[in-house]
Amino acid sequence: MLLSEKQEALVKESWELLKQDIPLHSFRLFTSILEKAPGAKDLFSFLRDTDEIPQNNPKLRAHAAKVFRLTCESVVQLREKGGVLIGDATLKWLGSVHLQNGVLAPHFEMVKEALLKTIEEGVGEKWSEEMENAWGEAYDHLAAAIIGEMQAEA
Ligand code: HEM
Repeated sequence: MLLSEKQEALVKESWELLKQDIPLHSFRLFTSILEKAPGAKDLFSFLRDTDEIPQNNPKLRAHAAKVFRLTCESVVQLREKGGVLIGDATLKWLGSVHLQNGVLAPHFEMVKEALLKTIEEGVGEKWSEEMENAWGEAYDHLAAAIIGEMQAEA
């Protein structure tokens, strides 16, 4: 499947906005993930021992930033090549990390909803159905690739 140039531009444009305040959007992403999946809290080492979502935790920020960044990169790959092509080694590593941390396939759907909601809040009036679809499709491809590696390793 190929994404259009317009979709790629929409994702890049929104990522430029979100990048300006990673701590805020990371915090919102995790707030939204835990609203949808309270049980996911204990999967994350940095949330396990706390009742609150830490405001400026480097690991929390890193996870959120990677989800945003890799999804954004997969948009470019989907447009240029029609598939998610992050390096095989990276994909295997992503599969292992999630498998070892007890992440399950349905968690990816919850994170997707939380991601889209966070982007919607983050970009304000620039939000559109087309932007939502572009992020959503790129995320689905990336998530399917990670889940595929998790299943191959399990
Ligand atoms: C760890 C990316 C989805 C839960 C990681 C790491 C990366 C990553 C890069 C390693 C962080 C590091 O050690 O440097 C992604 C991407 C995702 C995704 C790109 C989606 C496209 C999810 C989902 C869950 C999840 C759906 C479950 C709710 C975790 C957990 C860890 C982790 C529990 C270990 C964190 C820790 O305790 O240090 N993820 N992730 N991830 N991810 Fe994800």
